[in-house]
Amino acid sequence: MPARGGRWAGFWEQRARQLQRQVQAKEERIVELETENAILHLKLAEKVKQDRKELRSSSLDLLRDCQGQQQDCGSEIVTAVQGAQRHHEAVLAWQSKAGCLEQSLRETTERYQLEKQKRKQLHNRLVELKGNIRVHCRIRPALPFDKESEDPLSQNSSVSAEVAHAVDDETVLVRWDRPGHPWINKTYNFERVYGPAESQRVVFEEVCPLLTSLLDGYNVCIMAYGQTGSGKSYTMMGPHSRKEPVLPVESQGDLGIIPRAAEELFRLISENPSRSPKVAVSVVEVYNNDIFDLLAKDSCAVTSGVKREVLTTKAGKKEIPSLTYESVHSTEEFLTLVDGRLRLRAKHATLVHADSSRSHLIITVTLTTAPSWDSPANRQSDVSVLKEPDCPSPRQPATGRRHSAAHRTSSWSPGAAPEGPTGHMEQVHAKLQLVDLAGSECAGVSGVTGAALRETSFINRSLAALADVLGALSERRGHVPYRNSKLTHLLQDVLGGDAKLLVILCVSPCRKHAAETLQSLGFGTRARQVQRGPARAGRVAPRTPR
Ligand SMILES: Nc1ncnc2c1ncn2[C@@H]1O[C@H](COP(=O)(O)OP(=O)(O)OP(=O)(O)O)[C@@H](O)[C@H]1O
Ligand SMILES: [Mg+2]
Repeated sequence: MPARGGRWAGFWEQRARQLQRQVQAKEERIVELETENAILHLKLAEKVKQDRKELRSSSLDLLRDCQGQQQDCGSEIVTAVQGAQRHHEAVLAWQSKAGCLEQSLRETTERYQLEKQKRKQLHNRLVELKGNIRVHCRIRPALPFDKESEDPLSQNSSVSAEVAHAVDDETVLVRWDRPGHPWINKTYNFERVYGPAESQRVVFEEVCPLLTSLLDGYNVCIMAYGQTGSGKSYTMMGPHSRKEPVLPVESQGDLGIIPRAAEELFRLISENPSRSPKVAVSVVEVYNNDIFDLLAKDSCAVTSGVKREVLTTKAGKKEIPSLTYESVHSTEEFLTLVDGRLRLRAKHATLVHADSSRSHLIITVTLTTAPSWDSPANRQSDVSVLKEPDCPSPRQPATGRRHSAAHRTSSWSPGAAPEGPTGHMEQVHAKLQLVDLAGSECAGVSGVTGAALRETSFINRSLAALADVLGALSERRGHVPYRNSKLTHLLQDVLGGDAKLLVILCVSPCRKHAAETLQSLGFGTRARQVQRGPARAGRVAPRTPR
């Protein structure tokens, strides 16, 4: 048993020693590891320190970079802001300068308009005093039919095809370059120039004051002059075609001077119903140098043109004895009457104009008032008189152009009898003559032959006679050849200074009409030179001031 106990003790001793050794070895290993760890810690600390250092330095670099860039950007922003500020200030300065300039432009424009207005008033006054003929010029727009027979020179370009331009409301410029001829670059001045875009309403607004003059007792004549197709009938009446009424009723915006004048006349008259003058109308055409009364009716009461003559009264005034007058009481009556008679007017298609007027048309609107017996005008011996329809007058035998007709008494008949319905004399207060002349034309261009060629020849001769009369008047010649044509003979009183006369020159803007345009502008210029002394008013019908 003790031996067995000794073996176990040896075993456990050995075992303890063995474990002791293992523990020792482990402890040694631990020491070693601790040392290694300490070294690694040191290395790690060193590395971390190094990395931190590097990181710090790169962060500092980055920061410096950022700061640098920030500074750059900041200064750029400051520069940009300063630049923008400067621009803004410059814009503000320009804005205020532009504002000041706009204001001064407005003021200058107002002053200019005022001065222009004053100049116009003074000019009008001078025109009144000198008795000048007022001349307006209307340039019509280029129209499709201008293209159809356009000359080859201007066929490619519509711009160069126009030679007459409205520079401003008083000046026309004609620029005409003809190959092989000297350039024409000429300006003409008139009381008013209407460009192609100016409407019928604008034209009438300028003409309208003449109607006030009419009611103030002045005789007034408005005459459209120009080559064929230049817009005379359009200006006086409005657009028309063979199928439509001669005076347009529906296209109100396009109404010409005649219907607008009728409307304005009755409007002015209605302002003072107590002293309304009576209104009578005559319609006359001068065709192939003969005068036809378009209101005259034949024995069957059919309206037909009846030939009449102009005579000189004892007082030296020109009258058409037995001329038919009809009284009208409203614009509608006036338009119905005139429209019906205008259908009788001679028309003919030419190569230049499909609806060409072949006669000169003169519509006369006569205002009459019953005079007070002691009025100075009533004491004049040469007072023209109108007669009521129930006082028939002996008529001259009439040679009808369309019918040879005996004449039927019409509503009014000037110069026939001295008494009106009240038994009092009725005095012609004032006369408004509305004249739509036939257009001058070159037979070669208009392509007319036979009867139409004869008409053309009469038209051109009568227009030449009109130009001769104006030439003689402007040069103050002793003899004025009024009697060279029926047209000038009929219009002698008007041309000689008995009326405020407005000539509206109608011209085409097209190159192919340039020669006629220059002729018309020359005619207008000559007309402006005529000085006939101040027009005298007849007996004044009191009006309500407007
Ligand atoms: N200002 C304008 N605006 C639009 N169309 C116009 C104008 N002037 C004239 N016209 C047109 O031109 C054409 C010729 O005009 P208009 O009949 O008035 O000529 P005219 O001068 O009377 O010719 P004629 O002497 O041959 O009778 C018409 O078709 C008319 O409608
Ligand atoms: Mg015409």
